[in-house]
Amino acid sequence: MTYREIREKFQKFFESKGHKLVPSASLVPENDSSVLFTTAGMQQFKPYYTGAMDVEKDFGSLNTASIQKAVRTSAIEEVGDESHLTFFEMLGNFSFGGYEKKEAIQYAHEFITKEMGLPIDYVSVFGGDSDVSADEESEKIWKEIDSNIKIEKYGKEDNFWGPTGEEGPCGPSTEIFVNGVEIWNLVFNEFYCSKDKKLEPLKMKGVDTGMGLERLAMVSQGKSNVYETDLFIATMDKIRELSPKDEEHSQRIIADHIRSAVFIISDGVFPSNTDKGYILRRLIRRAVRQADLVGMPRGSLAKVANVVINDYGNVYENLVTKGEEIRNEIQKEENSFIANLSKGLKQLEKLGNNISGKDAFDLYQSYGFPIEMTRGIVILEKGGSVDMEGYKEELKKHSELSTTASAGRFKGGLAGSGDMETKYHTATHLLFAVLRKILGEEVEQKGSNITPERLRFDFSYPQKLTDEEKQQVENLVNQKIEEGLDTSMQEVSVEEAKKMGAHGVFDKKYGDKVKVYKIGDFSLEICGGPHVKNTSELGEFKITKEESSSGGIRRIRAVLE
Ligand code: SER
Repeated sequence: MTYREIREKFQKFFESKGHKLVPSASLVPENDSSVLFTTAGMQQFKPYYTGAMDVEKDFGSLNTASIQKAVRTSAIEEVGDESHLTFFEMLGNFSFGGYEKKEAIQYAHEFITKEMGLPIDYVSVFGGDSDVSADEESEKIWKEIDSNIKIEKYGKEDNFWGPTGEEGPCGPSTEIFVNGVEIWNLVFNEFYCSKDKKLEPLKMKGVDTGMGLERLAMVSQGKSNVYETDLFIATMDKIRELSPKDEEHSQRIIADHIRSAVFIISDGVFPSNTDKGYILRRLIRRAVRQADLVGMPRGSLAKVANVVINDYGNVYENLVTKGEEIRNEIQKEENSFIANLSKGLKQLEKLGNNISGKDAFDLYQSYGFPIEMTRGIVILEKGGSVDMEGYKEELKKHSELSTTASAGRFKGGLAGSGDMETKYHTATHLLFAVLRKILGEEVEQKGSNITPERLRFDFSYPQKLTDEEKQQVENLVNQKIEEGLDTSMQEVSVEEAKKMGAHGVFDKKYGDKVKVYKIGDFSLEICGGPHVKNTSELGEFKITKEESSSGGIRRIRAVLE
């Protein structure tokens, strides 16, 4: 079965079982600053598990299904083996008070054995510990479906999911194994896991399942690794064509990393030295290094990116519309790193096989070598060692220095990218308050997304803003900036925050403390922060675009100059 057929089958199957198909959310999570990237299908649905948002109102059903783009870099050093990837697509079905374990397990069993025609080797269920009792219900349901099925019982490490980020819904899971490969993770969200790791029962039980498309294609197509599936064939062919040396491991890393980079850039992230931008930068630089190892000529990575763009363009249209930007960003990063790569490699040669923390840090500082690249070369290729403790100390020393340095730069108006994000955060609050003033109190926040380069804000409003309205919005934001309003923060309960009249997406656990940020007497919002101390730090606010985001929702992009 081709991956296109698998996608279709999955969607049709869950649609026929009363699920509303929801498009993949962006890789850059909206309204969830606890993680850098979207790592699971359930992430866009987090507020529905707690009841903070109404799933029926938004989707017309208690059950949804999606094919979600996801990025996970925790196992980046394992990429190149049979199945670890930094980007993957996750097939998932979800229920928020609709169905529970019985249907979830029945659906999964039916889909794997009947629709996909695959035999299940065994399943695992949560075996219980001192904290949470064993999931006997799931065990019973599996036995009712197939009295001969082999059931393993594991602990929290394997059969308990979540939360994504620091807090969120979580619960026991049951996993399905096919050909020795873990295929599908069915999570039963029964608890809310708080920041201090306490579990509190959720009022409503939820279902969250996730199945990696790449792994499913691998077992369905009878391949021994994901790179042989039709999801990777064209990309791997191109890489082989461009590499004089046929080194499969390096070629796989290039395929994975460039695929991730393409998708990350398509969601509005650019290479930088902080947060998401730095993850992207590391992925591209690691690919540049592998391309160098297999002898690819300069410019090859953009060609590889192009294959990914063409391959996925029919599903993710923004890859095509942003194709040129994606190729350019990858090319720019390759150009800027390539000279440093050879200098850094020479320096590494001189340093020998055992690298001190200071040397590792200098390689990063002078030549832009991400630490895991140095580790890869020294440990995996040369069998040497890198003093990680020492490296971390250097990093800490340096970041203390750079805080001081950036405080200095700040005065001169040249903020680092972290500082820029903080400014955009505050500007977003001002914008929201201004929109309500000018367009009316019915304007609600529908999404927000910030990069060091710009802010993006989605809000409910039925029609396009007139030029005059846009001008009024800009003027009032700038007026509030010029007024030099102080910001302040208070931690209160959700109830108190609501009473105070604070705006926000109430997607946090009830009864928990939330931060309320106040800007002068002009804006009051629930938000994780951080914010600037005074609006005078923001510079000049300018709307760069006003467009439709989806039905009844407008989107504004703006910059600070
Ligand atoms: N959240 C779980 C996972 O990502 C199931 O979807 O594995």
